[in-house]
Amino acid sequence: MPNSNLNEAQRAKNDEFYTQYADIEKEIAAYLEFNPDVFRGKTILLPCDDPEWSNFTKYFAQNFERFKLKKLISTSYAVESKTYKGVYQPTLFETSAPYYDKIKTIQNGKIFTLTRDKTGDHKVNVDDLEWHYLKGDGDFRSDEIKKLRDEADIIITNPPFSLFREFLAWIIESGKQFVVISNLNAITYKEIFPLIKNDEMWLGNGFHAGNAYFSTPFAQDYGDGVYNPETGLVKFRNVCWFTNLDHGRRHQPLPLMTMAENLKYSKHKEIKGKKSYDRYANYDAIEVPFTDAIPSDYNGAMGVPISFLDKYNPEQFKIIGSSRELGIPMSEVAEKGTYVAGGPRFYLSNGDGTHRRMYDRLVIKKRKF
Ligand SMILES: C[S@@+](CC[C@H](N)C(=O)[O-])C[C@H]1O[C@@H](n2cnc3c(N)ncnc32)[C@H](O)[C@@H]1O
Repeated sequence: MPNSNLNEAQRAKNDEFYTQYADIEKEIAAYLEFNPDVFRGKTILLPCDDPEWSNFTKYFAQNFERFKLKKLISTSYAVESKTYKGVYQPTLFETSAPYYDKIKTIQNGKIFTLTRDKTGDHKVNVDDLEWHYLKGDGDFRSDEIKKLRDEADIIITNPPFSLFREFLAWIIESGKQFVVISNLNAITYKEIFPLIKNDEMWLGNGFHAGNAYFSTPFAQDYGDGVYNPETGLVKFRNVCWFTNLDHGRRHQPLPLMTMAENLKYSKHKEIKGKKSYDRYANYDAIEVPFTDAIPSDYNGAMGVPISFLDKYNPEQFKIIGSSRELGIPMSEVAEKGTYVAGGPRFYLSNGDGTHRRMYDRLVIKKRKF
């Protein structure tokens, strides 16, 4: 493909992925099931949105009464400030407003709020949203949006992927509750992992098998396996929700076999028939390559893939750390030249004096013996 390099560069800057209604509905249902009053009397902020057609705005506006919300605020980012610009056409909804402004529609963000029955039909819903232009471009880092953040109780969105670190730090410094979409790999970031480890943030209910489908105006830039022309959606793997709202799934214990049972009956060929679980060369823990192969009766440290987090129940396990912070440099534990150079991670012996580096691992320990 002649344009593949260009597309690659553009793709990297594309933050325009829009979340599907059904995914929002399914995620939010998990918090409501755990606590039906989770949103009662609360102000919800949906930043980094595009309220005129965002499913987040639609979903929360339609459920305003059912959730007994106090206020819904949704803000968008100015077209001109976006890194990945498409052809822009203001909606009829906007152009027919008396205060429609040809310059502001491009240079300013917008704010939509919902607090009351504006139409007089005795219902508070999407028809009652009121909107105006923001003073600035709607950048979540601006004082204008920070003020809205500080007014809100709960922040919910699919933020720009390219600014995820900054976005999460912005939420954490506010001390607010949140539900946000991310890539699971973000947990290995040094600013983000401590939040998981300290149980200040966890995975939400999640997308089925971590596969999320988004709409994007730039769908055609994506190749086979990502863009599906039939649905018009792009598919990303390893997508998750991060939250500090509680839900039922994280309190369900993971059903597990004992170590002896795993070694005898595991469905994984890497475990079945072995004498014992492998141990790392540079950290005192056993290697557990699959979450469902965690031995129920092992009381020591275990290295597990980061996808374990999806099944993490803090009453069943505690997280000790990650291989990035715990892995002892191989130069200290192996003969020079017998290991693969690279950043600190866990290594397994190949049995011939050489070692292989493992993917990121979380180190966990059982809580209840
Ligand atoms: C992943 S999209 C999600 C949009 C919407 N929340 C949804 O899920 O349908 C993230 C949005 O954030 C916007 N954005 C990018 N940088 C931003 C910033 N600094 N401040 C606010 N919004 C930003 C992008 O233009 C994009 O529309």
